[in-house]
Amino acid sequence: MSKIIDGKLVSANIREQIKERTKAIKEKYSRTPGLAAVLVGEDPASQIYVRNKRKSCADVGIYSEEHKLPESTTEDDLLELIDKLNNDVNINGILVQLPLPNHIDESTILSSVTPEKDVDGFHPINAGHLFEGKPKFIPCTPHGIIKMLEFYNIDIEGKNAVVLGRSNIVGKPAAILLLQKNATVTICHSRTKNLNDELKKADIIVAAIGKAHFVKKEMVKEGAVIIDVGINRLETGKLAGDVDFDQVEEAASFITPVPGGVGPMTITMLLWNTLTSLEDSIG
Ligand code: GUN
Repeated sequence: MSKIIDGKLVSANIREQIKERTKAIKEKYSRTPGLAAVLVGEDPASQIYVRNKRKSCADVGIYSEEHKLPESTTEDDLLELIDKLNNDVNINGILVQLPLPNHIDESTILSSVTPEKDVDGFHPINAGHLFEGKPKFIPCTPHGIIKMLEFYNIDIEGKNAVVLGRSNIVGKPAAILLLQKNATVTICHSRTKNLNDELKKADIIVAAIGKAHFVKKEMVKEGAVIIDVGINRLETGKLAGDVDFDQVEEAASFITPVPGGVGPMTITMLLWNTLTSLEDSIG
């Protein structure tokens, strides 16, 4: 029987700290952390994410504003808005919700956010700092994963960690962070040969491939720690992770549920980064 890693509990704990720090900075410097969320187009999931992010900001005392732009927005229009936000003293964090429409080049946009306000940690400069082992802004989902492992005192050093997925948002930064914690890290993806053998060797699995119920019991070593990043909408409307929770729960020592696992941590670390951005700017 495994122990559930409760993302809501860990989140609540960290959000309390964020609330306290936000209050302290208000009292001392009369400054409020500010987040600008930029949403282009009508993607329903993105609209929900942005709404949740803004609500979470309000809960901890962080100011937020939403810039909702039509699907037809040009790259130049978007660059102009980001330039304005880069220079807005009331904004400490800029979040451009992904995915962007196809006619807008993602890397051009992500590189246009000033690294000092890049609370997603997606700018090449921040990716470079992370790579170097001196991170400034760590991408929110992998950061949240590490915080959860720490909260439950789960040993990372010397463990075999398998990251399933190689996205810039989750897979790659998660692998680097685990490596920095002295895990032996393997990154697996759609072209990996003998995937089951790789997974079976893992003490820690981070599943981030976006395929519902992909990880089955027979792929998992007895006692493994399972971190499920997947948020897949089933035909029934229910949310499902990348891990077949009902099966894998029996084999795992620790496992994150979906929902209520990694999801809440992503937003929490965005709040953390936004507050940290203001704190760093004050010095
Ligand atoms: N789309 C899916 N995940 C993310 C995220 O962490 N940040 C942003 N900006 N967009 C996303």
